[in-house]
Amino acid sequence: MKVGVFDSGLGGLTIVRAITDIFKGADIYYVADTAYAPYGQKTTNQILERSKQITDFLIENHDIDVLVVACNTATSASIMYLREVEKTLMVVGTEPGIKPAIETTKTSKIGVLATTATLNGDKYQVLVDKLSKQKEVTLFEQACPGLVEQIENGDVLHEKTKSMLSSWLEPMRENSVDTIVLGCTHYPLVSDVIQEVMGYEVKLIETGSAIAKRLKSLSCENGHVNEGNLNISILHTGSINTNMIDMIFENSKQNEKIIIRKCEI
Ligand code: DGL
Repeated sequence: MKVGVFDSGLGGLTIVRAITDIFKGADIYYVADTAYAPYGQKTTNQILERSKQITDFLIENHDIDVLVVACNTATSASIMYLREVEKTLMVVGTEPGIKPAIETTKTSKIGVLATTATLNGDKYQVLVDKLSKQKEVTLFEQACPGLVEQIENGDVLHEKTKSMLSSWLEPMRENSVDTIVLGCTHYPLVSDVIQEVMGYEVKLIETGSAIAKRLKSLSCENGHVNEGNLNISILHTGSINTNMIDMIFENSKQNEKIIIRKCEI
């Protein structure tokens, strides 16, 4: 099985990390589109166009069987289009974990951190409208412009990162939010800072393991034998912080081989 995965940068590796826990016997081609990051401040059309270019690159150069859009922002802008034009390709998307958050919360107060493009997108609104019929909850939505750049630079523990998060999380803290949706695949990389800033135990919802399960079941339905090693190629379009890659795969028990190289798309 050949699996294409992409994100604007390193964030989608939080999904790849979860994939390595349960998925075997495959070649993973991960595009970290750092030349074009961040996606979250771009228009829907710009993100859709770029998602199409990356998908074409993965099909033409790596003959992928399945595509994982490891980015909430790109999923929101392009997944319907990609499924429409690539009819034979299996496509797995990423969306903010509002459903598990609704099931988890005790205070009925949920924080949602995501990019501006995700929060303004129709897909997010449709999801919230549908799920809010299940249970009455109050959502504290917060876009985090600049956070992706801090993470890409490896400045996760920097004072600036902490102070950005402090001001964004203040309304959530004051209102006893007990569950926060990490609606961008970069944000699990600042989980510890979010916990610290909140000052009390909050449940942080990320979607990596759900996406890994979806990838595994979809692939196995299509004849994948889930055995053997994983080979991971990280293809970056701009500069990349390899220390962050080491950090993401630090405690991985799997025996995956990782190759990192620059590519032009
Ligand atoms: N990691 C991405 C997401 O899940 C995009 C971040 C960005 O480039 O703004 O939304």
